[in-house]
This record gives sequence, C-alpha cells and structure tokens, in this order.
Amino acid sequence: MKLLIDDAHLEEIKKICEFYPVAGVTTNPTILAKIGGNPFDTLKKIRNFLGEEKELHVQAVSRCAEKIVEEARHIVELLGANTYVKIPAMPEGFKAMKILVEKSEIPFTATAIYTPMQAFIAGQCGASYAAPYVNRIDNMGFNGLTVARDIQQIFEKNSMETEVIAASFKNSQQVLELCKCGISAVTLSPEIFIALVKNSAIDSAVEVFISDFESFAGNDKTMLDFQ
Ligand code: G3P
Repeated sequence: MKLLIDDAHLEEIKKICEFYPVAGVTTNPTILAKIGGNPFDTLKKIRNFLGEEKELHVQAVSRCAEKIVEEARHIVELLGANTYVKIPAMPEGFKAMKILVEKSEIPFTATAIYTPMQAFIAGQCGASYAAPYVNRIDNMGFNGLTVARDIQQIFEKNSMETEVIAASFKNSQQVLELCKCGISAVTLSPEIFIALVKNSAIDSAVEVFISDFESFAGNDKTMLDFQ
C-alpha cells in the first residue's frame, strides 16, 4: 500500500517526507485554497521538492469535458511527468477521461468517489486510480471502508488495472483496515500520517532501552563508543 500526503503546505510535506516512506502528494481545490495565491506557484514548489519520481495529483475544476481535457494538458505541461490529473467521476468527467485515453496522453485519477459503480465506470474509462472518500462516505451514513474494499474487489474480479487510492480519513485505524486488505494506496493528511505510528508505549520502551544502556556505559554513550 503506497502512502501519499493529502496536503499542499510545503513545510508539512517536507517534514513528513523526512521521516516516512512517501510515494507522492495529492491536492484538491480545497487544499489549494488553504494556501491561496497562484496554485501553480504552490504546485511547482511541491514538484521541485518531490522530484520527477514521485506522484503529484492535481484536480481539474472545469465543468465540461472539453475544458477538463484542456486543463489536464495544461496541468501536466506545467508540472511534468508523474503528474496525475484528478477528474471527478461523473458524466462530464467520464467523457474527459475517454478523450484523454483515446489520445493515450495523460494519467488521471478519478476523484469524488462515493459509490463503487462510479469507480467501476472510471476504471472502464481508463483511470489509473480511483479515489473513494472514506470518511465522507461514513458521514453520509454508509461505510467508507466497505466501499473502498468493494472497489478493490471490483477491480480485481474484473481484471482491471485501475488502483484504489483511498482518501478522506479521520483516524489511523481506518488506514490499517485498508492496509490489511491490500488496498493499492492511501492519501493522508499530515495529522493522520503522524498518527499512524504514535504510541507512548513505543516512546517509553525506547527511553528505557537508552537509559539501561547509559546506566552501564555512561551518559550519551552509544555503540559507537565501543569496539
Ligand atoms: O481529495 C479528497 C479528499 O482528500 C477529501 O478529504 O478530509 O476533505 O474529506 P477530506
């Protein structure tokens, strides 16, 4: 399961990347609104930091298919390889996806997914990823984890290459549940990312090991001080 960061604050992204294995960054218009200004200033800085190898997902905001396609080309032209254009999984979005696939151009992520059938259609339209919104689905009275797992199963049973990139989490337990069923990817806010491994028992176990070592070796001593 790949781990991506769902945020556009460069300093937060840098902090997470320093400590964790990160496959890329996802953004959406709401995330970009939190930064403000020219969105490409923000996105180019993120791309420069990530390099060409890591994924960057950026959403098109046009309402009609032809404009979505134009936006998609513009986004990839400015942000380069490994940029996935997020396209809402709805009729105009499906039309845009089909155009992009016909021209075999640009990889895209079907987004705003609340139902398995949206993901299935997007997969048939050639989406590289489908992004179910786990927590938002829960808040509608349905089960976001079940929807994400159903989508994964639909892709497997129908021999589709589309991968699930689950989004919208409220806690690390939801992430664990998807990890257990081998979901392809999740994208997490910095808070949830840090919460994946946040446990005072781990911290105190490590502290006891260090203080036991120092009790016989001396303060601040490590294995480097011995041959
Ligand atoms: O990009 C969509 C997804 O990240 C939404 O997350 O937390 O706003 O529900 P959230």
